[in-house]
Amino acid sequence: MQYMQCMKRYLSNLHLFSFFSRPTTLPSFRPFVDYLFWTMQSFRRAVCAPSITRVFQTRAMSSLKLPDLSWDFGELEPVISAEIMKLHYQKHHQAYVTNGNLALEKLADAQHKGDTAAIIGLQNALKFNCGGHLNHSIFWKNLASPKKGGGHLGSGELRKKIETQFGSLDKLQAQMSATTVGVQGSGWGWLGYDKASDRLVVTTTPNQDPLQPTTGLVPLLGIDVWEHAYYLQYKNVRPDYVKEIWKVINWADVENNLKNAK
Ligand SMILES: [Fe+2]
Repeated sequence: MQYMQCMKRYLSNLHLFSFFSRPTTLPSFRPFVDYLFWTMQSFRRAVCAPSITRVFQTRAMSSLKLPDLSWDFGELEPVISAEIMKLHYQKHHQAYVTNGNLALEKLADAQHKGDTAAIIGLQNALKFNCGGHLNHSIFWKNLASPKKGGGHLGSGELRKKIETQFGSLDKLQAQMSATTVGVQGSGWGWLGYDKASDRLVVTTTPNQDPLQPTTGLVPLLGIDVWEHAYYLQYKNVRPDYVKEIWKVINWADVENNLKNAK
């Protein structure tokens, strides 16, 4: 038993050593002891390396980052002020990224330790923070200055679908505005795509619940109705903010999301 523990410790030390220094060829004049050492290392790499590789890969995949923006903070004025957009992106979205990465690091540790209770305990933090990151990453791309096409819906498939299902763009906007304004507390209004029925769907999600993971609908257009998205400019009048935001909706991006959803 003691022998096995010593071997385990020894192999563990080899494991750490060889992670930084991996001999790949056998020198011609290596003495027998070195040869034995090399053989054990080779065995360890074959048997043990995949597990630690997976851990590092998991952690590497965990890294959320703020996406680049296609507009300057002041470009969406007067619909949304530069002050709001700067705070929204640099402070609020950054907080979701920071806390999402923290939750993902904890998840990787819990998975590595096989701690099922800790994994379950992280689910709310993961949904909230990673959901916030996903939602805002969609939202930024959904916006564009009117000078760069914001508010203009082209004549492609999206327009045809909107007119077939809702009658007109104005009617879709009216329905989605009413639904989005009606979100209780903080949340999002969505135009989603249901792959199974090939139809557009207007809906909402609470808090930072991401649309696709919680409903199956593919997000095409999201409207953030958390107060941080409008309060500095519109105070408590959410309907005015939602009414104005249609002027800076990047319909080309929404159309592209529909195309990618299929
Ligand atoms: Fe937000």
